[in-house]
Amino acid sequence: MIKRIRSDQLRPGMYIHDLNCGWMDHPFVFNSFAVEDEEKIGKIIATGIRELYIDSSRGLDVEDAQTHDEFHAELHEKITALAASHEVRAHPTTLMEEVTVAKVVHQDAHKVVHHLMSDVRMGKQIEVAHMSPMVENITDSIFRNKDAFISLARIKKKDEYTFQHSVSVCALLVAFSQAMEYEKNVILEAGMGGLLHDIGKMKIPDYILNKPAPLTEDEFAIMRSHSAIGRELLEHTPGVPEAAIIITGQHHERYDGTGYPGKLKDQQISPLGQMASIVDVYDALTSNRIYHKGMEPTAALKKLFEWSRFHFNAKLVERFICLIGIYPVGTLVKLESGMLAVVVSPGHESLLRPTVRIVYDINKAQALTPHDFDLSSQLDSIVQYESPAQWGIDPYHYL
Ligand SMILES: [Fe+2]
Repeated sequence: MIKRIRSDQLRPGMYIHDLNCGWMDHPFVFNSFAVEDEEKIGKIIATGIRELYIDSSRGLDVEDAQTHDEFHAELHEKITALAASHEVRAHPTTLMEEVTVAKVVHQDAHKVVHHLMSDVRMGKQIEVAHMSPMVENITDSIFRNKDAFISLARIKKKDEYTFQHSVSVCALLVAFSQAMEYEKNVILEAGMGGLLHDIGKMKIPDYILNKPAPLTEDEFAIMRSHSAIGRELLEHTPGVPEAAIIITGQHHERYDGTGYPGKLKDQQISPLGQMASIVDVYDALTSNRIYHKGMEPTAALKKLFEWSRFHFNAKLVERFICLIGIYPVGTLVKLESGMLAVVVSPGHESLLRPTVRIVYDINKAQALTPHDFDLSSQLDSIVQYESPAQWGIDPYHYL
């Protein structure tokens, strides 16, 4: 049985089913393994892992611990109640109208970031003036319809991860700052911070940055230095807004003080730093990497919600979940009627009732001519999200 325990309940003889900290945040070769000794437990606790999952059928048990299924049912209930209570705001432009423009802006942004990062790698100075128009174009697209750019930014080529992740984090931070009702100039500065937040990675040796296998402990420490390196680099670059420097330096800090480089806690981390940490983890979780298959957005939001008990500002995570929506555009969902459908636009009344494009009938095992259905009509509803890979359906094909 899979059970959720605190890391201080770990004992030699237990079997870890899931370290529960996201693949990017730990120096262990595997995510599941047998705990042989206290040394390993110390290492797990030192990494900042506060709760994890054990498999009681493969090792010692913690009898009164909550099971994975119980916990996830509870999590689902909480997150659904949160989404149901959220008031949905209409976009000034439809997804279809914005997607063509967003594609061009996305391609341009990718080129600019690629160029910028190559410059840094070669020791050249960053030209902030080249980036400002790009951040403005992304911000304008997000303001017209955030879902167009954000759904495009989810698709990443494996070998271009760092560039595309930067563009994604920029877009998500702009949307998040807008949802927080920040002034336009702060939103633009936050966007700039998103584009630059991982710039320090350009000073990390390539064999570590693109290693097609988990990092060793030493390599992991070098990789972790990227946020401090990035902050220093930007401090010496003319024209970089203070907000962008803060985002770069703080995006790996954690609310409980287990992050890096400063081990900052609570309000010691600036609001933009707290927001950047949420956005950075969300994009990393939902992206396909060299040896890691990305999670569906709904699953990633649940993880953020779970981790917000310790690692993030819980109020900000709630705001972020409502911003993205439990079933964002591009999510494959199963309907109560037994149909598979792709979310094509957020619900106008509730996040739980978007408009979907029905593509497959599960009962008849039959592909259908895609047709749209507005779930706010209450004639059908979403049961759960589904894995596109499991059904062999590419949701983006239907957008
Ligand atoms: Fe980073």
